[in-house]
Amino acid sequence: MELCSITGLKGKITVPGDKSISHRGVMFGAVANGTTEIHNFLEGADCLATIRCFRTLGIDIEKEKDTVIIHGKGIHGLSKPSDILDVGNSGTTTRLISGILAGQPFESKLSGDDSLNSRPMKRIIDPLTKMGANISSILRNGCAPLYITPGTLHGIHYDSPVASAQVKSCILLAGLYAEGETSVTEPSLSRNHTELMLREFGADIRSSHALDSTESTVSITPGRELYGQKLTVPGDISSAAYFIAAGLIVPDSEILIENVGINPTRAGILKVCEDMGGDISLLNERTEGGEKIADILVRTSRLHGITIQGDIIPTLIDEIPVIAVMAAVAEGTTVIKDAAELKVKETDRIETVCDNLKSMGCKVTPTPDGMIITGGKLAGASIHTLLDHRIAMAFSIAALVAEGNTKILDSRCVDVSYPAFYDTFEELL
Ligand code: S3P
Repeated sequence: MELCSITGLKGKITVPGDKSISHRGVMFGAVANGTTEIHNFLEGADCLATIRCFRTLGIDIEKEKDTVIIHGKGIHGLSKPSDILDVGNSGTTTRLISGILAGQPFESKLSGDDSLNSRPMKRIIDPLTKMGANISSILRNGCAPLYITPGTLHGIHYDSPVASAQVKSCILLAGLYAEGETSVTEPSLSRNHTELMLREFGADIRSSHALDSTESTVSITPGRELYGQKLTVPGDISSAAYFIAAGLIVPDSEILIENVGINPTRAGILKVCEDMGGDISLLNERTEGGEKIADILVRTSRLHGITIQGDIIPTLIDEIPVIAVMAAVAEGTTVIKDAAELKVKETDRIETVCDNLKSMGCKVTPTPDGMIITGGKLAGASIHTLLDHRIAMAFSIAALVAEGNTKILDSRCVDVSYPAFYDTFEELL
């Protein structure tokens, strides 16, 4: 994809359904009794991988565009897969499904693409093993492919060293199959869609927050049946983030993004934009299916650098590449700290963001847990996405304010989470 600088992005758009919620809708629907109907399902490769895996586990799933109907078979209704489960590029599929598979009376193997098979799985192998699961890394390198055989699970309390919704959700899902209560404490609250949605499906699940620290705990008690639900997935704030950034940094722009999920555990980007001096407002705020939703209006603004650190990080972890792009054209210096988790995403995003910003002429220094960016002018460059969808989209926004042409290599990797990304763009020209 070749892009150049523009001005005046104007219009009203919607972005596709939330990736995290779409995954969970399929998974919870599969182990619930009865039918689950999902509207505005994200038709990205990651969520399609989740559908593919549950079909391989014997679940009948109908899909007509962005409407998905799952014929759930109840908590013990999955059947032995006839094949290795192909999780593609999707960390969420891998970690959440492993929690479910750990509680099954049959063996399974799962594997993904090269990026997925190099991401850390010890973070789920360790707690699942403590629960009595038999799960191993086939190549003994702490990564997928994973091999899971039947085990008798018992509830544990797990103090997670990382604020990770994938780790938390994996343990809670295994908790559905364990004897007794399972609880997870994380250092600060990661996205809470599993808690909100499992409760809607009928699970006995409770959350609490420490008064004297940022720690947060969720507990699940097994035994209740889950029941199919009707869900409408809100627009994904992680996809909206690219157009929020474009609206703020492309001269003479005004963009209204309708129907975006603004769950506080996901909405750190909104606070960062405000703190950087962005003209951003929330309209028509409402709550549907336990999730907060709003329309987001952004207008071109003079941004300035800020420090981003601490417990806001898990609420904007996937938006850091595009936040870094905003920082690269803001006045002054932006410091991003406490974000070492970036290293274990689809690529090492400290490295991929810093390398590509440098190639666009930006003054940026990587640090062990983030980066320091001094704002200025960007120049067009060839962007090495390393097949990371969020790098492709973040640097497509950078291209719009860079002098000269920018080439996004392997730009089709946007299919992972936002196949229509470049089409949405056209709507604003
Ligand atoms: C996700 C959790 C986050 C996020 C990922 C989706 C989820 O990962 O980066 O894109 O749906 O639970 P971690 O839980 O590893 O932080």
